[in-house]
Amino acid sequence: MALNLDARQRAMLEEMRVRVWWPQPAAQPQPAAVPVQGSNQAPADPPPAPVLRVAEPPPPPRVPIAVPVAVVVPEPAPAPAPVPAAAVAPDGRADAIAAMDWPALQHAVAGCQACKLCGTRRNTVFGVGPAAADPATPPHVDWLVVGEAPGEQEDLRGEPFVGPAGKLLDNMLRAVGVSRHGEAGAPQRAAFIVNVLKCRPPGNRNPALEEIAQCEPFLKRQIALLRPRIILAVGRFAVQSLLAGSVPNVHATPLGRLRGKVYRYEGVPVVVSYHPAYLLRSLPEKAKAWADLCLALETLQAQ
Ligand code: URA
Repeated sequence: MALNLDARQRAMLEEMRVRVWWPQPAAQPQPAAVPVQGSNQAPADPPPAPVLRVAEPPPPPRVPIAVPVAVVVPEPAPAPAPVPAAAVAPDGRADAIAAMDWPALQHAVAGCQACKLCGTRRNTVFGVGPAAADPATPPHVDWLVVGEAPGEQEDLRGEPFVGPAGKLLDNMLRAVGVSRHGEAGAPQRAAFIVNVLKCRPPGNRNPALEEIAQCEPFLKRQIALLRPRIILAVGRFAVQSLLAGSVPNVHATPLGRLRGKVYRYEGVPVVVSYHPAYLLRSLPEKAKAWADLCLALETLQAQ
């Protein structure tokens, strides 16, 4: 599970002000405590509180980075998860989506009129990843990143995470050797990136429950067809959508408290992290997001 960063990756992390802990002699001074700002992306987070940056660890065996210990949360027994009414509407829509192949799913998203966002969107945003060898099948990716909803630029271009938050996401993924374009024949270096919502909420407002419920079958089918080996859920809407069936009270749990564990969605390990747009406003949290990324990488490599 060694994470060997080359000079370019280290420079990139420096540039992002992501602190990486390398093995140091025991006499090295401890890093200072870093205050953490409040969260806009996850308003349910606790108020600003001093957070201890992880103290200089004893030389770690292989991954010289402070990462939380992976705790695999077993898949729950069928849970009495709150299922939005629309998801179980007797119109067969969710069942029909669950049976779609990749091209049918793309087509269904492109023409979706299940909620009022279809009236204001310029483009639907299905998701992006490396080109598939056969367009009738999904690309081979180990990584799936799930965000919240398209913003203005994503709505214009029909591609997720193309604004400033997307650049940060790309940089972070690149630091662990992963990209949205991937590398032919190397799924471990490729990520597919999607959002919970496929259409932009006007003015970038938060997704509404009804919109999430209508879009949920699309996300579920994307995951079933892509069969990623690790899911990175960024921001509370992605986290709540993916963990609602397995984490009691997830809607009331601050995202910061959900980090550091490995959950499962339909059998796929899920790692929780902050939304890149939030990280742009809260530099100290980048170190935590880096730890989340390392946990995801570690979980993937341990399979
Ligand atoms: N924020 C998201 O959650 N997704 C995007 O595609 C862009 C910004």
